[in-house]
Amino acid sequence: MKPSPENIYDAAQRLKREELVVFPTETVYGLGGIASSDAAVKAIYAAKGRPAYNPLIVHVQSQEEAAALGAFPEEIKQATEAFWPGPLTVVVPLKNGAPLSPLATAGLKTVALRFSKNPVLLELLRQTGGPLVAPSANRSGSLTATSAAHAQKYFPNLMVLDGGETEIGLESTVITHQKGLLHILRPGAISKEALEEKVDIPVVFSSKEKKVTSPGQTDRHYAPSIRMRMDAREPLKGEAFLGFGKHAPEHTTLNLSPSGALEEAAKNLFSFLHTLDNPHRYSGIAVAPIPNTGLGASINDRLRRACQSSPS
Ligand code: TXA
Ligand code: MG
Repeated sequence: MKPSPENIYDAAQRLKREELVVFPTETVYGLGGIASSDAAVKAIYAAKGRPAYNPLIVHVQSQEEAAALGAFPEEIKQATEAFWPGPLTVVVPLKNGAPLSPLATAGLKTVALRFSKNPVLLELLRQTGGPLVAPSANRSGSLTATSAAHAQKYFPNLMVLDGGETEIGLESTVITHQKGLLHILRPGAISKEALEEKVDIPVVFSSKEKKVTSPGQTDRHYAPSIRMRMDAREPLKGEAFLGFGKHAPEHTTLNLSPSGALEEAAKNLFSFLHTLDNPHRYSGIAVAPIPNTGLGASINDRLRRACQSSPS
């Protein structure tokens, strides 16, 4: 459905009735519902097949609304002032009495907040009064949806507002503040380097060893239905080859960025994986090495998780 004023109005009415709607954000498509509604939040977990211990992102329409839901330490404020509205999600202590279904935060004392700049989402927030919870619009564990068609394939019975291919193609970067460090809980659309430029404290990638993690980070993730491997120089017989850069091998099926631009590669990543995830044509997907700097670190995070969850 085109995001015409009539369709956006219809979508807002559905959300107010505690139904679910799929909408675009600048990162990836989201499966949205009213954040205060137990019924809507339950329906999101059920539709995605997502485990109830993995909390959702709450989408807000202003810094003020965010400040009413969560307590913002100074270091997090530096980040939101630099990147909101935009592809950044912050995990902060949940304020008492915040009007959110406890299911949305999986009963945690923290909440993940995001202020997106997508005009369709902002209009839905305005018309419903918000806030809206929206995880990525894919079945749990499957490839992320970066187009309306991807999302409709996962949720054929839901209204999908079609905002075209998403600009960024990777989920938001999820951060939190702990003990004088900014922890990246999930690498994403904003690189570590970009964050470092804007905040006064060190930025670190969180690992299980450091015991600061997101509940969902250990689950099956971003996996196509066929086998996948990364850091590959060339395809084996039957494999599709997802290349990167100028020196792609002869049998490259698709190239994430012929010029070697990481932003272009991020935008194409899930869309190309959806195309190559075809068990009738390919035995698996081999992916070329991607430099591990800037957005490359986020791309490699997704590839690593996809490969770990690969069918063997
Ligand atoms: O770009 C995005 O972030 C998209 C668009 C639709 O906004 N949303 C998205 O949501 O990717 P989802 O649910 O697929 O991923 C949310 C991530 C999960 O890894 C979850 O574990 C983490 O955020 N998260 C949510 N609440 C948290 C909390 N209180 N503490 C730690 N991690 C949290
Ligand atoms: Mg997701």
